[in-house]
Amino acid sequence: MIKKLLCALALMITCTAAGAAGGGYTLDKAPDRATNLASLQNGAKLFVNYCLNCHGATSMRYNKLKDIGLTDDQIKESLLFTGDKVGDLMKGSVSVKDGKAWFGVPPPDLSVIARAKAQSASVTGADYIYTYLRTFYRDTTKLTGWNNLAFPNAGMPHVMWERQGPRTMTSVVVHEHEAPGAKAGHAAWERVTTSYDPMGFMTVKTEPLENYHGHATTDYQFKAVDAARSAAYDSDAADVTAFMTWMSEPMAQTRKQIGVWVMLFLGLFFLVAWRLNASYWKLVR
Ligand code: HEC
Repeated sequence: MIKKLLCALALMITCTAAGAAGGGYTLDKAPDRATNLASLQNGAKLFVNYCLNCHGATSMRYNKLKDIGLTDDQIKESLLFTGDKVGDLMKGSVSVKDGKAWFGVPPPDLSVIARAKAQSASVTGADYIYTYLRTFYRDTTKLTGWNNLAFPNAGMPHVMWERQGPRTMTSVVVHEHEAPGAKAGHAAWERVTTSYDPMGFMTVKTEPLENYHGHATTDYQFKAVDAARSAAYDSDAADVTAFMTWMSEPMAQTRKQIGVWVMLFLGLFFLVAWRLNASYWKLVR
């Protein structure tokens, strides 16, 4: 019995630890800005201006943005495209057919993507989106000119690149390999450093590692030309992520509040039931 319990526990721990994305890149934790109205509003503004060009979010109406503190006038002035009405759905400007022709894959509807991309109980869809938005790097070998660590070979370009500014991406991989001319079974270790400069040109440096007794590792590093600008972008990415998380479940906050009241009620009810039970049995005994 105890053994079974321990097995279940071990399984749970391995499941939660496996937070890596498809590309093997460990996802960053998205800052929690679910109750920060200024963040949600900034996220909404960025989302409408940068994402709806290609994507739709067709479960969301513009007037729902009043729930995050925007007024009808603010929505009309800074969020609506010409011709749209406050009650309209957030449709994208690109049709599925055009999207497929232009990018090879149609841009998915983003209404519930923050829930769809959840990896496990501890690694949320928000973590995925936050990391995805912050791990684009220029790569001249790709059609879009961009590549991504959380989603290698993504068909989406880095649409907010001007906000982030130019960066260099360097990956350092230490691995075992079969050196040419070496005896079979005699693997050697080497370190491969691959850099993509801000223009997307790649350089590779390979160094043999003598007497290396560690294990295989992979590290990624970004170096921004303008650190302050890149940090401001990180905050923008967190805001867009918070907005998309809210959009995927606008009732989440209310649901949590109701949950607290339900727990309080159950607690109180338990107390009453317990004391009643005691007083009934007192008479019987
Ligand atoms: C130029 C068009 C374009 C714009 C603008 C754009 N996207 Fe995309 N996006 C795409 C395409 C195309 C895909 C599908 C990529 C693929 O599957 O290879 C995609 C996929 C995605 C995905 C799914 C990734 C996955 O793992 O499947 C997310 C999340 C996403 N976009 C978020 C955003 C956000 C947030 C914005 C605004 C900041 C945005 N996109 C703006 C074209 C765009």
